Amino acid sequence: MYRPQRTRNRNLLLAVAIFLSVAYYLRSSWSAPQPLESAVLEHHMNHDPPADPPSSKTARFDWSTVQFEHPPGPIRPLPKSSSSSPPPLPRVQHVFKPESAAQSALRTLRRDEVRSLFRKNWAAYRTRAWGRDALLPISGGGRDQFSGWAATLVDALDTLWIMGLRDEFDEAVAYVAEHVDFGKSTSDRVNTFETNIRYLGGLLAAYDLSRRPVLLRKAVELGDLLYVAFNTPNRMPVDFIDFVAAKTGRGLMVEESVVSASPGTLSLELTRLSQITGDARYYDAAARVMDLFARGQNETLIPGLWPMFVSMRRMDVVTGNTFTVAGCADSLYEYLPKMAALLEPSPEQARYAAMSRAFLDAADTALLYRPMLPGGEDLLMAGTASVNAAGAPVVLDPETEHLSCFIGGAYALAGKLFRRPRDVELGAKLTRGCVYSYRAMPTGMGPERWNMVPCASRTQCSWDEERWLAGKAERPEWKEGLPKGFTTAKDPRYILRPEAIESVFVLYRVTGRYEYQQMAWEMFKAVANGTATEFANAAVMDVTARGYPLPQEDYMESFWLAETLKYFYLVFSPPDLISLDDYIFNTEAHPFRRPG
Ligand SMILES: *[C@@H]1O[C@H](CO)[C@@H](O)[C@H](O)[C@H]1NC(C)=O
Ligand SMILES: *[C@@H]1O[C@H](CO)[C@@H](O)[C@H](O)[C@H]1NC(C)=O
Repeated sequence: MYRPQRTRNRNLLLAVAIFLSVAYYLRSSWSAPQPLESAVLEHHMNHDPPADPPSSKTARFDWSTVQFEHPPGPIRPLPKSSSSSPPPLPRVQHVFKPESAAQSALRTLRRDEVRSLFRKNWAAYRTRAWGRDALLPISGGGRDQFSGWAATLVDALDTLWIMGLRDEFDEAVAYVAEHVDFGKSTSDRVNTFETNIRYLGGLLAAYDLSRRPVLLRKAVELGDLLYVAFNTPNRMPVDFIDFVAAKTGRGLMVEESVVSASPGTLSLELTRLSQITGDARYYDAAARVMDLFARGQNETLIPGLWPMFVSMRRMDVVTGNTFTVAGCADSLYEYLPKMAALLEPSPEQARYAAMSRAFLDAADTALLYRPMLPGGEDLLMAGTASVNAAGAPVVLDPETEHLSCFIGGAYALAGKLFRRPRDVELGAKLTRGCVYSYRAMPTGMGPERWNMVPCASRTQCSWDEERWLAGKAERPEWKEGLPKGFTTAKDPRYILRPEAIESVFVLYRVTGRYEYQQMAWEMFKAVANGTATEFANAAVMDVTARGYPLPQEDYMESFWLAETLKYFYLVFSPPDLISLDDYIFNTEAHPFRRPG
C-alpha cells in the first residue's frame, strides 16, 4: 500500500499542461444500483429502513460537468459471465464448528474490549477533532492532511457499522451529507491514491453495508473527481490532481516516475463503483492501467514482479532494478487476487488469477527468506531484491517492513481462491514471521522496519551465534536492547499500522485455528497498552524501549480506526461477520461485497 506515510521517496513532481480545452466530453448516465442481498450480521437485524438525513447538500462543484481535453473514447464494458468464464472460485473461509460456551464467553469479552477502545477513540475524535482529517491524540487537536474531507470520519464509517454503533454511524453519515464537499480542498494537490483508498473505499464499503443512498451519491461525486486524474494524453492517471487546473478540463501532466502501488491501486475501488452504479467509465479507466501492468509483468528483470518505480508518462512498468512487496509496491500485488474475486464470474477473472500466480511464484523465489532465529522457529519474512542487469543474479536484502506484513494474508487468500494449498502454508509462515516481530520486542509491538540474518536454506537453519554477531557488526544501526536474531530495528516506531493483524485475521478465517485468536489478543494487549494516551492512541517512537511510558508522537493515522481496530474486532467476532466468501477488503480494510 503505498501512501506518503507508507511510501517514501515518492516523486512529487506535478506539472500542468496549459492547453485550451476543445474536447467535448459526454458523461454517460448511470443507472440506479441493483438491490444487493442484505448482509446477515448479528448486530444489524431489526433496523429501520435506511433514510437520508433531511437536508443533504450537493457539492459546490460538480465534477461530472468537466469537459475533458482528453476524452476516453470507447468505454470498455464491465466483464460479464460468458461461456469462457472459468469455474466458480472455491470457498475461502474454514467451515467453523460451533464453539463451546467458555470459548464464546472469552471471545465476547475480548471483542468488547476492542470495541470499548474504539469508542474511547471515537468519542475523542468527536469532541476534539470532529470533521478534521486526523485527531492529534496527545494534544487533543486536529489536523487536515488529506484535503480536509474528514478522513478519519469517512474511513471509520464501516467500522462503526460493523461494531453495531448505529447512533454514531447515523451522526457520521449526516456529517458526510451536510459538510463533506468534494468541490473544495484544503490542499491544491489532491493525492489520487490516498483519496481513492481512504475516501472512495470508505464510502463504497459503508454503502455496501448500510445501503444509505447518500453514501452512494457522495461516492459518485468523488468518483467523478478521481476520474479527472485520467484526463491525460495517454489516459494514465496522475499521482496528484491539480485541483484548480483539473476543474477547467485542461489535460493534466502525468508524472515521470511514481511508486508502482500508486497507479496499481485503483482497480478495486473503481470497479466496485462501476458495479454499483452500472456506469462502466470508472472500471474502464482502471482497466487500461492494469492492461499496461499485465503486458509488462513478464518483461521485467524479475519476471512476475514489477519494479518499485514505474513511469506512467512513458507507460513503462518494466525498467527498474529494485523489487519489493512492501511499501511503494504492496497493494499493486494485493489487488490482483482480489480483482479475480470481484470480477467473478468472467473471463477477466482468469486473467487476474494468472497475474496473481505469476507474482506469487516470483515473490516466493526472489523475496521471501527464512530468518535465523535463536529458537530455530520455521518462519518466513519478505525482503527486497535488486538485479543489476538482465541475467545478473538476484540479490536479496533481508530488510523487512511492517508494510510487507499484509503478504501472509495475501498468500493465504490467493492459495484458497486458486486452489494452491502451498500458498496457504507460505501465508501462515509469513504471518507468524510478523507476529514474531511483535512478540520478540520488549513492548510486544513490532517495529516499522528491521533486519535479520537470512538462513541459507529454508529447510535447515540452526542458530549460529557467530553469524548473528557478524551480522549485527555490519550494521551501524545496531542498538543495545535488540532481541537476538534482529540485526537492526532500523525504524523502531510502531505507528498504529494494521498489516500484521490483517494477516492474522485472514489466517484465522482461512484456517479456523484458535492460535490466531491468541496471537491477536497478545498483540492487542500490547498495542492498546503501549500506544494509549489520555484521549486515544498514538504512534510509539521506539518499540525496543524498556521502561514506560514509551515515547510517543502526537499523531493518529485514520487507518487505526479504519483498519487496525476493525481487524482486531473481526478476529473476535463470529466468522460470518464480513465473511471472506462474501467480501473482499480494499487496502484500507474497507469491505466490498463480492457480486459473484
Ligand atoms: C507470465 O509467466 C507466467 C509463468 O511463466 C505465465 O504463467 C503467464 O501466463 C505469463 N503471463 C503473460 C501475460 O504472458
Ligand atoms: C502496560 O503499560 C504500563 C505503563 O504504561 C507498563 O508498566 C506495563 O508493563 C504494560 N503492560 C503490558 C502487558 O505491556
